[in-house]
Amino acid sequence: MVQKPILEAHELCAQYGETPILQGADFSLQAGEIVSIIGRNGVGKTTLMKCLIGLLRATSGSIVFRGVDITRTSANDRAKMGIGYIPQGRGLFPRLTVSENLMVGELIGGKNGAKLYDLVYNFFPVLAERKSQVAGTMSGGQQQMLAIGRALVGSPNLILLDEPSEGIQPSIVQEIAANMREVSKQLGIAIVLVEQNINMIRLLAQRCYVMNKGRIIKEITVAELEDPEVVRRHLSV
Ligand SMILES: Nc1ncnc2c1ncn2[C@@H]1O[C@H](COP(=O)(O)OP(=O)(O)OP(=O)(O)O)[C@@H](O)[C@H]1O
Ligand SMILES: [Mg+2]
Repeated sequence: MVQKPILEAHELCAQYGETPILQGADFSLQAGEIVSIIGRNGVGKTTLMKCLIGLLRATSGSIVFRGVDITRTSANDRAKMGIGYIPQGRGLFPRLTVSENLMVGELIGGKNGAKLYDLVYNFFPVLAERKSQVAGTMSGGQQQMLAIGRALVGSPNLILLDEPSEGIQPSIVQEIAANMREVSKQLGIAIVLVEQNINMIRLLAQRCYVMNKGRIIKEITVAELEDPEVVRRHLSV
């Protein structure tokens, strides 16, 4: 059976001012699939994510989501169509409580996410325990779980997850990876995982694209990351 990809980026180009950053990035993933985009610092991973969610305009190329060209669709509408975005650094409202941050996610997704709150609290019990805690006072790992929860209440089919392991201790990285795998499996959510943390990639990704100088230069298997030479070449570790 030939599957239709949930997301396709075709020769995507984008720039800040006059400086080209994305220079023909090309990749796709299937519904429910978890694919990692790896690459050293500054190669354009976050820029690609911003372009996919619509915070940065593509100067050329196209983005197709579930068969619909969304290259010129607003970020707001992309979110309503089912794309969740968890930015690098998490982008929480530090002075809002856990439950208030989740409400923002529900508004962004534009759907009635009431039953999804229970689901988020089930996947991340620590959030249920801390519903009225102000987000900025929680640990890095708890904040990352909240950022994920906030995307989930928007009821996405696809999540763009940018360096979730950043600033998080290894045991929590493992916990978050396991939770995300379960989320993806149970809800059929596809994930584009931008990562440099080898453990997170190992635990979560099903395959990897390597990014360099604003392009996807090749695809590798997760098993290939067992080779220290491959890791040295493609990650800033
Ligand atoms: N808002 C911006 N304005 C101008 N240049 C930017 C902006 N954001 C990023 N850049 C530049 O674009 C290039 C790609 O940055 P980007 O953040 O996409 O890289 P990255 O692969 O996500 O890096 P990291 O692994 O450090 O997160 C870098 O040279 C960066 O300095
Ligand atoms: Mg980045």
